[in-house]
Amino acid sequence: MLRQSGGVSSDSIRRNSIPSQKRKGKKQMFLELNGIKKSFGEGESRVEVLKGIDAQIEKGEFCVLLGPSGSGKSTLLNIIGGIDSADEGYISINGEKTKDMNERQLTLYRRKHLGYIFQMYNLIPNLNIKENIEVGAYLSDSPLDVDELLKALGLYEHRHKLPNQLSGGQQQRTAIGRAVIKNPDILLCDEPTGALDYKTSKEILAIIGDLNKKYGSTVVMVTHNDAIKNMADRVIKLRDGVIRKNYINETKLTAEELDW
Ligand SMILES: Nc1ncnc2c1ncn2[C@@H]1O[C@H](COP(=O)(O)OP(=O)(O)OP(=O)(O)O)[C@@H](O)[C@H]1O
Ligand SMILES: [Mg+2]
Repeated sequence: MLRQSGGVSSDSIRRNSIPSQKRKGKKQMFLELNGIKKSFGEGESRVEVLKGIDAQIEKGEFCVLLGPSGSGKSTLLNIIGGIDSADEGYISINGEKTKDMNERQLTLYRRKHLGYIFQMYNLIPNLNIKENIEVGAYLSDSPLDVDELLKALGLYEHRHKLPNQLSGGQQQRTAIGRAVIKNPDILLCDEPTGALDYKTSKEILAIIGDLNKKYGSTVVMVTHNDAIKNMADRVIKLRDGVIRKNYINETKLTAEELDW
């Protein structure tokens, strides 16, 4: 349903977007976190937030990152997203290390390959819904068709409204649209349902689940909500700056089947 404009298939773009590099012996994982460490503050007030994070996420995986407040989830997501940098260790995506990229390459990497959904929607108040989504397509080589996307998100009839004329769920759907219109390889979501009620949260999770299935976008979703782990392929639990658990969920539920 969400065709790309220009008649180019998303598959061909995905294949071309990141050069694949094969390594001998070891299976190449799509997203690798290697020995990630991060501290904030200096001297007495220095806090080691991430104490050495190692994890591997396969292409197309739906990964849920759980952990108590302050455990470093957003910090880790920001490092994956190239918004913040690690003190030690590195992220590699299809064999490319983000720490080897200069500012320009990092900007291109973020622009081409990453979609970011935040807890707060951060919409531009004086642009309508359609325009807010189109902002995300700016400079993308392979954007999805905006009208198709508006329909898939249930926003087509609201497309000429301003954000403050919409409900929280509709605003979050707009923010999802803005993140996915460029058809990103990786969709990073930081508490995307944190500000929403039960029913709307499930709708939003269903949309993210559908996008993961339809486009094979790799999803990393941060949440405190333990129930959401049931819709993941992989669950990573963070506590006190280290990974406490990292496992494949063999009994995946749909967003509709979740309950909390
Ligand atoms: N820029 C910063 N400067 C100083 N300390 C920071 C900064 N960013 C995060 N921290 C600290 O790092 C720790 C982890 O923060 P982070 O935002 O990653 O937690 P979180 O797991 O996302 O929590 P929450 O579930 O509440 O969003 C916290 O103690 C926080 O105060
Ligand atoms: Mg956070």
